[in-house]
Amino acid sequence: MSDSAKLIIDGKEHLFPIVKGTQGERAIDITGLREQAGLITLDTSLGNTGSCLSRITYIDGEKGILLYRGYPIEELAEKSTFVETAYLLIHGELPAKDELSVFSNRLNESSLIHEDMRHFFVAFPKYAHPMGILATMVASLSTFYPVPDIMDPDAEEQFMANLISQVRTVAAFSYKKSIGEPTVYPSFKLRYVENFLNMMFSSPVKDYRQDPDIVRAVELFLILHADHEQNCSASTVRLVGSSLSNIYSVISAGISALWGPRHGGANQEVIHMLEHILATGADPKGFINRAKNKTSKERLMGFGHRVYKSFDPRAKILKQACHKLLNKPGVSNPLFDIALKIEELALKDEYFVERNLYPNVDFYSGLILKAVGIPYDMFTVLFAIGRVPGWLAQWREMVHTASFKIVRPRQVYIGQSKRHYEPIDKRISRKQG
Ligand code: SDX
Repeated sequence: MSDSAKLIIDGKEHLFPIVKGTQGERAIDITGLREQAGLITLDTSLGNTGSCLSRITYIDGEKGILLYRGYPIEELAEKSTFVETAYLLIHGELPAKDELSVFSNRLNESSLIHEDMRHFFVAFPKYAHPMGILATMVASLSTFYPVPDIMDPDAEEQFMANLISQVRTVAAFSYKKSIGEPTVYPSFKLRYVENFLNMMFSSPVKDYRQDPDIVRAVELFLILHADHEQNCSASTVRLVGSSLSNIYSVISAGISALWGPRHGGANQEVIHMLEHILATGADPKGFINRAKNKTSKERLMGFGHRVYKSFDPRAKILKQACHKLLNKPGVSNPLFDIALKIEELALKDEYFVERNLYPNVDFYSGLILKAVGIPYDMFTVLFAIGRVPGWLAQWREMVHTASFKIVRPRQVYIGQSKRHYEPIDKRISRKQG
C-alpha cells in the first residue's frame, strides 16, 4: 500500500504523506498543500475530510462497528453505566473502584446549580423549548462558575463534573417549569439516572417509584448517546473550543448544533412522524413514498447517516430494548408496531437500499423515552445529557494536543470582482414593481 499520494498540478508533482489509523483507515495529510502547491481543497460538508487524529471513538460505517476507547458499544451497553462510560471517554480507561468512587462523588457534589440561576426559569416563557433553556443556562454557568485558567487540571476536573451533573439538573428543572410544578433538588442518596428521574417525576406530594426496567432503559439511552466521533455537534465543540472560549460556552454551542432536526432533533421528529401515521391511519408505504419524493420536504426521520452505510449498531440495541420495555405483559405500543413496519418496508425499498439508508440511533430512541414518560420536546435534551461526556472528551483531547491551533478553514470565493462605490442616485433598483 502506498505511504504517500502524488498530485500533479500544472505539470508539477507534489507528494503528500498517507496517514494510517490503528483500525486501517487511511488519509492523505495535506497540511502543506497550500504552501507547496498554492491550492486548497474544497469539501463543503467535510464528508471526505478528517479534522483531527483521535483516540476516543471509532466507527466503521460499512460494518456497523462503534467502539468507545476500543470497547464495543454492545459490551458497554450491556455491562457499563453512564457514569463509568463518561469516565472512560474522558480519561481513556475504565475506572478502578476508587477512581469511579471519586468521580461519582464529584458529580454528586456538583449536582446543584447556583440558587440565583433559578430566577432564570421565572423569565423563560412557559412554552420555551427546553433545548433553548438548556443552551442558555449552560452558557450562563460561565458567569456563576468562571474558569480563570481553562488549562488547569484541577479546574478541568471540576468544570467537567459541573457540566455532566448540572446539565441533568437544568433539564429536570426546565421540565418542572413547563408543567408548573416546584423543582425537586438532586439527592446524594440516588445514582445518576435515578437522581434524574426523581428530579423529573417526584413532587412534594408524591414520591417517584423507581422502576428498574425504566432506570436501565435510560442508562442504556445515555450510554448509546455518549459520543460519536466528529459528528456535527462534536465538531462544533472542537471549533468553538479552538478559540479557547470558556468551556460552558463551548458546550452550549454543542447543544445548539445538536438541536437541529438533521442531528439530535431527529428523535423528536421520528415520534411526531409515527404519531401522525397512527392518528391519520396513513399507510406507512405512502409515507415512505413521500419521503422518497424530492419535491416533498418530508424525509424518513431516523433513517440515513453520513457515516453508517449499514445498520447503526445503536439502533439495533435500542430496537431490542424496545422489544423488552414495550412488550411487557399488557403493554401494547402501536407506535413501535408502526416503526417496525416502516423499517421492514424501507429496508426492502430500492430507494433506501441503493442509498444505504438504514435506521440510525434516533429511529427507536424516541420510543424508549416515550415509554419512560419523557415529554417529546425533552427528547433532544436527553440526547444532550448523554452527549456531554463525549463533547468534553473531544474538547479535552484537542486542548491537550501540543500543536493545537484555532480552527480556521479557507474558502473558494465566487463573488464579485473589485468594483467601486456608486452614489445612491446612480443606482438602479433591482426590485420589479
Ligand atoms: C444523528 O454524525 C453523527 O454521527 C450524528 C449522530 C450522532 O450520534 O452524533 O449519529 C446522530 O444525528 C443521526 C442522524 C439523525 N438525523 C435524521 O434521522 C434525519 C434524517 N436523515 C437525513 O437527514 C440524512 O440521512 C442525514 C442528515 C442523517 C445524513 O445526510 P447526508 O449524509 O448529508 O446524506 P444526504 O443528505 O446527502 O443523502 C444522500 C441521499 C440523498 O438522495 P439523492 O440526492 O442521492 O437522491 O439519500 C437521501 C438524500 O435525499 N436521504 C434520504 C434520507 N436521508 C438521506 N431520503 C429520505 N429520507 C432520509 N432520511
